[in-house]
Amino acid sequence: MSEHQETPNLEVSHSGSEAGVATAEMLHVDRYEGIWMRISLVVLVIFFVTVLVSSFSTGFQVPGVYQRIDPATIHNEGSPFANPEVRELAPGKYEAYIRAQIWSFTPNEIRIPAGSTVTFYATSQDVQHGVKIANTNINMMILPGQVAKITTSFNKPGTYNFVCHEYCGSQHHTMYGRIIVEDPNALEAETAAAGPLLSGFVH
Ligand code: CUA
Repeated sequence: MSEHQETPNLEVSHSGSEAGVATAEMLHVDRYEGIWMRISLVVLVIFFVTVLVSSFSTGFQVPGVYQRIDPATIHNEGSPFANPEVRELAPGKYEAYIRAQIWSFTPNEIRIPAGSTVTFYATSQDVQHGVKIANTNINMMILPGQVAKITTSFNKPGTYNFVCHEYCGSQHHTMYGRIIVEDPNALEAETAAAGPLLSGFVH
């Protein structure tokens, strides 16, 4: 009997004079917890906006699987990975095939003029490798059996080193190469300056 009497008493006290407090208690969020929840929401919004901005303004791309390939056949005649190299498709437009193997890249040096757009195709003949080209947004995994494809432009002359960034065995740290982006104007200027200088010596 006494229990039955206490229960209604409690209900009365909550729904009565302290109705507002009862509602607040049901949704009780500590002040600091609330602050952190708001901070977390703001951070999520910042991340979302960052991804959106980077995808449209800096050419954010996810290197997808361009095609599948049998690692056993990549050395066969006709395979672009048998003697992988850089090819000029049109002025300023290149495609570069890269083969990764323990523990080197073929080719490990690529030369292109500044302002070129290069589409990279990369695959591995053995284990999982990766390639990260410094000072660009290129960072992709190179998996045996798959060809990864990504396109980027090199507008600034200079040397862009690239490294394998997936641990692939004891000599992983020796897997690197470089892309030399040549300044076409500097080359012309050099030739022009060398011309009269040389003829001066001859005379
Ligand atoms: Cu290849 Cu690490």
